[in-house]
Amino acid sequence: MPYYRSAGEVPPKRHTQFRAPDGSLYAEELMGQEGFSSDSSLLYHRHLPTAIVAAEEYDPTGWTRTPNRPLKPRHLRTHKLDSGGGDPVLDRQHLLANDDVRISYVVADRPSPLYRNAIGDECLYVEAGTARVESTFGTLEVASGDYVIIPTSVIHRIVPTGERLRLLTVEATGHIGPPKRYLSVRGQFLEHSPYCERDIRGPSEPLLVEGSDVEVYVQHRSRAGRPPVGGSAWTRLVFANHPFDVVGWDGHLYPWAFSIHDFEPITGRVHQPPPAHQTFQGPNFVICSFVPRKVDYHPLAIPVPYNHHNVDSDEMMFYTGGSYEARRGSGIEQGSISLHPSGFTHGPQPGAVERAIGVDYFDELAVMVDTFRPLDLCEAALACEDTGYAWTWAGRSLP
Ligand SMILES: [Fe+2]
Repeated sequence: MPYYRSAGEVPPKRHTQFRAPDGSLYAEELMGQEGFSSDSSLLYHRHLPTAIVAAEEYDPTGWTRTPNRPLKPRHLRTHKLDSGGGDPVLDRQHLLANDDVRISYVVADRPSPLYRNAIGDECLYVEAGTARVESTFGTLEVASGDYVIIPTSVIHRIVPTGERLRLLTVEATGHIGPPKRYLSVRGQFLEHSPYCERDIRGPSEPLLVEGSDVEVYVQHRSRAGRPPVGGSAWTRLVFANHPFDVVGWDGHLYPWAFSIHDFEPITGRVHQPPPAHQTFQGPNFVICSFVPRKVDYHPLAIPVPYNHHNVDSDEMMFYTGGSYEARRGSGIEQGSISLHPSGFTHGPQPGAVERAIGVDYFDELAVMVDTFRPLDLCEAALACEDTGYAWTWAGRSLP
């Protein structure tokens, strides 16, 4: 994150003695990315963050990966996966994956266990409900429309606080951040960025929890890992003391939230290309936000997209509010996901271009993930697929 923050107490000089009221030393931890040559934070623990007392392997279930063969556009109805609740980490229903990114959906009605993803950053998108994200850095309250970025290896848990929580989760194999073109060389958001520091929320005070022998589920790299990601495995570590024991921290690395409703759309006289919607970048993928906006105002404008072929990407779109004009008539609904893979030209449904002419406002809310390598379909995707979608541009309902 290009934004320095500090919470709780930190000593005036880093790497110096910092003592608790009883005279004991706090344990300093440097958490840093890219070999300590990128963003980092210093955290001050009441206990040693290294003290573990047990470790055992954990086998998650439900992972399969099926290549998108024969190559087809896909429509997934995630709300068909509503299984009556679960926890926001261990009960994720995996939908689409490649070796760079895993995209899942979960309906949660209870807290997750303590969790650390040591493979990469996570981006959670809150479709519905509210939650408290508790971590070693403090607490973040999140609600419908929020993106939450959890940096690699931050120990946290997700606690639903209202109606059932619906999350789209994007797990990366590296770091997720704002698009580089929106940042100055020193990391400040530039004037043409669709959002800036004022739109970002981070933890503001320490979260201190007492406890001993506390379990943390760790998803981590492993050469002998199982699918879906070569090299992914899980271990349950037991910490001697509760990991939420940080009295203060400062730096540029911390969990943060940004609401899609604070994304200022970039509009023009004629149709704006997809990069105008880009919100985040990660290794071999981008995340974009399609928000309610005034649309193209050239007197002869066609406000829906032209047919297009993103030849180096698979495009996944999650429809999360309003009505998406270009897809009207295709069966796409709230909670739908479309997958338009590389190798297939996609565009508005029949009649959408004509209907859009003269319209000056689109009330749509969607999150797009474009991956540079093909996405495989996981078990839950196949379970909620609308198999007739591929043929809807041709006006036929059956393959
Ligand atoms: Fe597209």
